Amino acid sequence: MAAPEITPELPIAMFDSGVGGLTVLHECLVSLPEEDYVYLGDDARFPYGARTAEDLRKHVAQVSRYLLERGAKLLVIACNSAASGGQDVARHIAAEAGIEVVAVIEPEAEIAAALTDNGSVGVLATPATVRSGAYLRALSAQQRALTVTEVEAPDLAAVIQRGFPFSDSVVDMVRSYCEPLKRAEVDTVILGCTHYPLVRPMLQRVLGREVRLVTAGHAIAATAERQLDTAGLSKTDNEEGTYRFLCTGDPESFRELGTRFLQMPLGEIERVDLP
Ligand code: DGL
Repeated sequence: MAAPEITPELPIAMFDSGVGGLTVLHECLVSLPEEDYVYLGDDARFPYGARTAEDLRKHVAQVSRYLLERGAKLLVIACNSAASGGQDVARHIAAEAGIEVVAVIEPEAEIAAALTDNGSVGVLATPATVRSGAYLRALSAQQRALTVTEVEAPDLAAVIQRGFPFSDSVVDMVRSYCEPLKRAEVDTVILGCTHYPLVRPMLQRVLGREVRLVTAGHAIAATAERQLDTAGLSKTDNEEGTYRFLCTGDPESFRELGTRFLQMPLGEIERVDLP
């Protein structure tokens, strides 16, 4: 199917492996309220963070194609694991359709480099993201030399995606993930998975009040705004836009979790098959 003509009326498409990308959507809804959004949670294939680079590239290619064929004027990768493994594939597919991609990872690296005082930066992310080396590359491309401590958190996104509940064992798990960051005396930590801002208070308590936590949402919204303005694709009316949700898993579970995290009604959730 050919992609539709790109016009300001088309939505901004966004995806994640589950509900984590809602932390990015939330910032976009606040910063660009007049835009329309379509969000796809590929929750049938969660967790992306445990997938091989090859699998991630396939999933990212498939989801990107699907969203662009439905019609979108901008593609936002609101998942660090997807961006670390398949950002180049998504950019290639989108470029063929004449569409820009905005993705997590580089924005957090830039913010962290600007924020750190002692130059010691921590990254907490999924195994797929850490193993891709994407943050090391992005951080070493900054203007200043940084000491980077990366920690794989294989189970944290899954606890959040399951909808908690938090128990002492979850707090112990978070403590063990944060231990190497504390030992390295980082003063800035990149939350390198879009699920993690949903447990920000716990991470801040364990890491200490003085540690700066870096997330991508705000920067993504600002970049999206710039890209749309440059391309002449921003919506010019002042009406509040719409948002709609697609998922590959169970729509009711998505609704329950998504409503809790977004703190807004999700409306009808369409289940899509991406075999
Ligand atoms: N939100 C995804 C990320 O940013 C979640 C992790 C996963 O699917 O494992 O990496």
